[in-house]
Amino acid sequence: MVSKSLFLATCSFLTLVASLVALPPPSFHQLNHRESRLLPNRVIAQFPAGTWIENIAVRANGNLLLTSFLPDATLYEVSDLDCLSPTVTRLFTIDSVTSLFGIVETSTDVFAVAGGNFSQSTGGVKGTSRLWSIDFRHGQSSYPRLITSIPDAVLLNGATTVPQSSHIVLLADSILNTIWRVDVVKGTVDKAAQFPPQDTAPSQPVTIGINGIHIHDGFLWFTNDTSTTNPSTGSPETSMYRIQIDKNGYAPLNTAPKKTITLPSEALDDFIFGPDDRDIKWIATNSENKVLAAAPDGRYVRVAGAPSSFEVATATACQFGRTSRDSHVLYVTTGGGKINGTTEGGKVQGLDTSGFSF
Ligand SMILES: *[C@@H]1O[C@H](CO)[C@@H](O)[C@H](O)[C@H]1NC(C)=O
Ligand SMILES: *[C@@H]1O[C@H](CO)[C@@H](O)[C@H](O)[C@H]1NC(C)=O
Ligand SMILES: *[C@@H]1O[C@H](CO)[C@@H](O)[C@H](O)[C@H]1NC(C)=O
Repeated sequence: MVSKSLFLATCSFLTLVASLVALPPPSFHQLNHRESRLLPNRVIAQFPAGTWIENIAVRANGNLLLTSFLPDATLYEVSDLDCLSPTVTRLFTIDSVTSLFGIVETSTDVFAVAGGNFSQSTGGVKGTSRLWSIDFRHGQSSYPRLITSIPDAVLLNGATTVPQSSHIVLLADSILNTIWRVDVVKGTVDKAAQFPPQDTAPSQPVTIGINGIHIHDGFLWFTNDTSTTNPSTGSPETSMYRIQIDKNGYAPLNTAPKKTITLPSEALDDFIFGPDDRDIKWIATNSENKVLAAAPDGRYVRVAGAPSSFEVATATACQFGRTSRDSHVLYVTTGGGKINGTTEGGKVQGLDTSGFSF
């Protein structure tokens, strides 16, 4: 059943009919885990092959801000989300780096966006990481203002702010397993946490550790993208962790994060809690082409995608809408990819979570 509020089609009645017809067929693939509860969903924005959308933030007016990781460092804005074909606007491309990573709101309609150089062969490039500020308070944003470089970072990834001090931005470094801490007012950089770097798998040029980070209930939660093999099933698994974080954004020294949930997934990318104050984690699984929902007690279900489906192929991050019309819609960004010889670009897929419960 499709909820009446999935996507209000104010553009025309036909678009509503089309969006209902366009719901994907159920997947026939064997699941890694028994349960799945696929949510009604539709394409919000589709990018050409070769474009990898990496991260997402939502403006107070409801528009989506998207960062690209490939082929260049572009910030896009998606507006008219009520329409069958929302409007995608390229705001700017930063020429001094190859890629953008996490994006987060630091004060009303002001965002911090991380970027740096990435190479397929060597991964992140030390010395190229930067954090910029984008300001929408006076209408359309002007070109981003450099807040600071983060000279020792290797590969920035997820970003979040500290709830009580939103001018403090935390940035995950996936290679060093450092949480960098940037004061966007002072432009200073230090470390919020340092965990042991993961061993690099011999078969891969880079092994990604900490990926998505978010603060919830006094803890910094993170996905750890390094998979291990479950000894009894022989299948890959990855975990989420949490560690206490103080009001200034620092984790306690010499304290190991606690593993909170293990998922039968080879990869875990960014995630979000919600909708509103619901304590559900919605997790993008990158190369697994799925989105999972996880309950506080560790139960989980697949809510979108499948290994050989483009629905959320290379799911990178997700955020809930911010208006009364779409606060139940989970916007999932993707990197796209190649399935059965066909290549698709990254996109944004909207999932209707209104009927969902564990
Ligand atoms: C990133 O790489 C490009 C191309 O190699 C180079 O021109 C640019 O200076 C690099 N950026 C930084 C911040 O070092
Ligand atoms: C990430 O997972 C790997 C594999 O289980 C583990 O060795 C590493 O310590 C974890 N890193 C963090 C920061 O939790
Ligand atoms: C790829 O091929 C498999 C096996 O035939 C099929 O189940 C799946 O739907 C295909 N996926 C796409 C995106 O074409």
